[in-house]
Amino acid sequence: MTKLKPITLSGSDPKKSLLIENPLFLAPMEGVTDPSFRQLVAARGGVGVLCTEFIRISQGHIPLKVLRRELGTWQEPCPIAVQFMAPSTDYLAESVALVEQTRAQYVDLNFGCPVKRVFNKCAGSALLDFPDRMFDIVKCAVEATGLPVTAKIRAGVNDTHLLKDVIHAVHSAGAALLAMHGRLRSESYAMDAHWEWLAEAQEYLLSFEKPIPFIANGGIDTCDDVDAVVKQTKCDGVMIGRGAIADPFIFRHYMCSEPATREEVCAFIVEYWQAINQGSQKKSGLGRIKQLLKYSVGNLLFDNEDQRQQLMRARDIETIWAYISGWTAIPA
Ligand SMILES: Cc1cc2nc3c(=O)[nH]c(=O)nc-3n(C[C@H](O)[C@H](O)[C@H](O)COP(=O)(O)O)c2cc1C
Repeated sequence: MTKLKPITLSGSDPKKSLLIENPLFLAPMEGVTDPSFRQLVAARGGVGVLCTEFIRISQGHIPLKVLRRELGTWQEPCPIAVQFMAPSTDYLAESVALVEQTRAQYVDLNFGCPVKRVFNKCAGSALLDFPDRMFDIVKCAVEATGLPVTAKIRAGVNDTHLLKDVIHAVHSAGAALLAMHGRLRSESYAMDAHWEWLAEAQEYLLSFEKPIPFIANGGIDTCDDVDAVVKQTKCDGVMIGRGAIADPFIFRHYMCSEPATREEVCAFIVEYWQAINQGSQKKSGLGRIKQLLKYSVGNLLFDNEDQRQQLMRARDIETIWAYISGWTAIPA
């Protein structure tokens, strides 16, 4: 497995520029990559960069206490970003400026969310049809902080005809890095990701006098996929989303050649359950555990699809414990 080279994210304050030693990113995923999940994945080793789930700006600036809640209290062993999703520059500068009072090392802007309620408010991926608005949003964020500001995009809304305009807008507004999910908004999360579009985007970025690091995302589900996407796209880093739900040890596997065992994955599930049940969220806990089961791949957790389907129908956590107790200790 190829070791990725370190990358630097430049902020408008050179003292706040950030060296990322290992550009292997855990993708932000709302409803999954909360502080507990991030902490448990990072504790396994191998992950190089973390990010909060998106924080949506709509009716006012985001208070510091919300940023702190989204970041959690654990000190991660690698850089972490705060991700905002904003339909315009309203309240953006105030929200971005507050990030400097947290431990996050950079700010990421979401231009990829396909969800209807977001899209209809012209946020997330809807902005891909308006590169000039994207320019304003990125520039506003860049001017509000000395920290690096990055952008996460998709390839387009219904096609890729504006992709170069989008990349140009983000780059000229001062973004420090571009992460691209190689699917259209209309493709949501289905279909294979188009790595050929990622390759085209990187080729275009490299034609600029001062290119910024380019991070490939979409359908990178195994260690072999990491090597393949680097080879095909010449990206500077890789971002893994559902592949990390399927196998939270994928980063360790890639960096240390240590694949997960079923015992380890079962223990991860138990630890995750304990972490999310420290508060008052027992109800959503079962749903979150089922997310892990839903995406689990190969024979990491199950010998066959029937076993998975059976557990996906579980109405209580005890049914899941009954299955995984064969491989790990179950909480009392
Ligand atoms: C459940 C879920 C929630 C997501 N939430 C976010 C989010 O908060 N911010 C974001 O930029 N992308 C979000 N995404 C998109 C992922 O970051 C990533 O771009 C996408 O899943 C493609 O990568 P993959 O094929 O490796 O999963 C989400 C994806 C999923 C499946």
